[in-house]
Amino acid sequence: MAVYDLATGLRAHALYSQVALHAEYGGVVPELASRDHVRKLLPLIRQTLAEAGLGVRDLGGVAYTAGPGLVGALLVGAGVGRALAWALDVPAIGVHHMEGHLLAPLIEDPELRPPFVALLVSGGHSQLVAVRAIGDYELLGETLDDAAGEAFDKTAKLMGLPYPGGPHLAKLATTGRAGVFRFARPMTDRPGLDFSFSGLKTQVLLAWQRSDQSAATRADIARGFEDAIVDTLAIKCERALDAAGMDTLIVAGGVGANARLREQLQEQAARRGGRVRFPRLAFCTDNGAMIAYAGALRLAAGLHEDAQVQVRPRWDMATLPAVGRMSGEGRFVIRDS
Ligand SMILES: Nc1ncnc2c1ncn2[C@@H]1O[C@H](COP(=O)(O)OP(=O)(O)O)[C@@H](O)[C@H]1O
Ligand SMILES: [Mg+2]
Repeated sequence: MAVYDLATGLRAHALYSQVALHAEYGGVVPELASRDHVRKLLPLIRQTLAEAGLGVRDLGGVAYTAGPGLVGALLVGAGVGRALAWALDVPAIGVHHMEGHLLAPLIEDPELRPPFVALLVSGGHSQLVAVRAIGDYELLGETLDDAAGEAFDKTAKLMGLPYPGGPHLAKLATTGRAGVFRFARPMTDRPGLDFSFSGLKTQVLLAWQRSDQSAATRADIARGFEDAIVDTLAIKCERALDAAGMDTLIVAGGVGANARLREQLQEQAARRGGRVRFPRLAFCTDNGAMIAYAGALRLAAGLHEDAQVQVRPRWDMATLPAVGRMSGEGRFVIRDS
């Protein structure tokens, strides 16, 4: 949950994590997720408004995630968001979850604006997107099987690490030795911008089963796995920048919190003479600020939803309308106006 003002920036944001709720099942249980959203949403709205020092009547519009994702969870947010806007007689806008991630680096970096290449790496997605303007997205490549975050989570699980495994595996990798285990850099030996991470998981499984399964070995395998993913992502990012003819890379989504990925992409950018930008850690993983921000831009462009609750569990980001660009002062300028 967040309050964003285009003139003054982020006013407040709050997060209620369901990690503890889902931990005992080792993954998200859709029905539990929706029911928990029902319980937590209104208190979280009150808390966020109180932190912003605002009342509900101060809101000029309401944005909510309309997709893609689990339909039950989406319906809770869309139902509450749309109803709130109706009651307040302000416009409502359904935001694309991945557009939220993609714009997150801009929230606190007014200098940053398209064109850039975005690497979106989360639990559900691995995509390279050419961003020419806000809302103008061309998919350059994506995963053919597991997402990068999913690969982290599944690999962590098979070595017995707790849910969600990604951050645990990354922490363990810091104590592992580089090069003791060397895994493939999938699909880097041929041209193209697509990814495939499921084979890597199998390689780790075999290495783990054949090993002595000591704590030190587990850390070495974690390091080998992380290096393989990070190298693969970095190679594809470089290719994507070349293909798009752009020099700025932005990284978003939960895996964007990975320290080694950040470090390696910084080094690569320095070597190439380009730049790479990441949102702060809290805005890499799912958060309300990115949805409020993306929604504020779309509302400012005059876009809004009809008076109905509609969600899109599957939603291609390339079908979003292009809405505008940023002026030199960091102000939002609506295209064709
Ligand atoms: N430091 C990290 N290193 C690697 N993966 C991470 C790290 N922190 C979070 N992740 C991964 O990010 C994913 C969550 O991303 P997020 O965008 O919040 O989720 P979703 O895909 O559900 O929208 C999980 O797969 C998690 O393991
Ligand atoms: Mg996400």
